[in-house]
Amino acid sequence: MVQEIRRAREADLKEIFAIETAVQKAPWAESVFADIQRDEDAYFFVADEGGSRPVAFLIAISGDDFLEILNFAVAPASQRQGIGGRLFQYVLNEASKAGISSVRLEVRESNAPAIAIYTASGLEVVGMRKGYYNDNGENALLMTGEISLI
Ligand SMILES: CC(C)(COP(=O)(O)OP(=O)(O)OC[C@H]1O[C@@H](n2cnc3c(N)ncnc32)[C@H](O)[C@@H]1OP(=O)(O)O)[C@@H](O)C(=O)NCCC(=O)NCCS
Repeated sequence: MVQEIRRAREADLKEIFAIETAVQKAPWAESVFADIQRDEDAYFFVADEGGSRPVAFLIAISGDDFLEILNFAVAPASQRQGIGGRLFQYVLNEASKAGISSVRLEVRESNAPAIAIYTASGLEVVGMRKGYYNDNGENALLMTGEISLI
């Protein structure tokens, strides 16, 4: 059971990187997570099951008036329990409180679970980047939504 959604701490970084390598097809380098955790302007949140053990994380950055989702993952043993959906919605609410009105992201065309979360939050597909992902040449879908309507 997720007890808390909170900002990522330095002490979470090992567990976050373990989640990343377990679930992402093309994991980011570990140092990138440390850099983002130190950036106070970044949106870097975790879902914590208690005992300060993150089971999911989401990273986003804000532009003038939009939030861009950069990375988002739930540990394999914690998937399909609604954690990803709750974490995504939480971060949108945080951005909304900061005056940000829209959200955008790229997602692999085959990523049904992620697309289900984004669609449930009101995002729509607005474009496609053909062959965007280097590892397998998969297309990226561009999705956007107005946070105020979510
Ligand atoms: C995408 C991801 C974050 C979803 O996290 P999650 O906690 O398992 O998702 P939820 O339990 O909140 O499920 C949300 C919705 O997706 C659906 N869903 C979840 N897993 C699914 C699957 N394997 N296939 C189809 N739909 C799925 C659920 O049915 C749910 O919809 P519902 O609320 O209408 O029932 C997780 O699967 C993951 O970490 N994937 C690998 C990394 C990734 O792809 N990140 C996103 C792009 S960077």
